[in-house]
Amino acid sequence: MPIVLDPLLTAAETQVMRAAAQSLPFQDGALTAGAVARTVKSNEQATPGPATQAVLDKVQSALSAHPLFAAIAYPRAFARLMVTRTQGGGQYGPHVDNALIAGTRADLSFTLFLSDPQSYDGGELVIADRLEDRAVKLPQGAAVIYPSNTLHHVAPVTRGARLVVVGWVQSWVADPARREILFDLWRAIEATQDPEQARLLSKSRSNLLRMWAR
Ligand code: NI
Repeated sequence: MPIVLDPLLTAAETQVMRAAAQSLPFQDGALTAGAVARTVKSNEQATPGPATQAVLDKVQSALSAHPLFAAIAYPRAFARLMVTRTQGGGQYGPHVDNALIAGTRADLSFTLFLSDPQSYDGGELVIADRLEDRAVKLPQGAAVIYPSNTLHHVAPVTRGARLVVVGWVQSWVADPARREILFDLWRAIEATQDPEQARLLSKSRSNLLRMWAR
């Protein structure tokens, strides 16, 4: 189930980060794709280095500080983050993300949108759900987080440039169905006005997490 964090960054933070990301050197995105994904990937990614790392560190901090992120992801480790640029008809065809990235299991994938959606055409992230495809194109500063076990693609960018930060997270809870139960309980705790009910829901959530965390 994809969840939108809107905003993840404030307007001011987004502006600073977009400017920093735009000035980075970029290289062919196929370098980090798996054997199958490489055949459908035509985008660019920021070359690793201190300037790129500074951008990625800020995104990682913003995610880690977001209460909804903790409730959805139960983050254990970040596998990798990348700044990605797609333009000139570039796209990323249907693929599933690698299960293991840099030795870390990827349970959740995220995309933080940095470009103004009016400044480019196409570039929707399309996530294949059981029943339908969901096209996601968010305002600058917003992010979507979704289970890494889904097929998805990025539609061709036919005008302008799509600048995003993408990344993968290892969760304490590998099973998306279990994470969804924990998230529902979290939402019930947030919604209830009854302190006794909140305590019992909270106890159930903690004890399920204790059983499932690994
Ligand atoms: Ni992907």
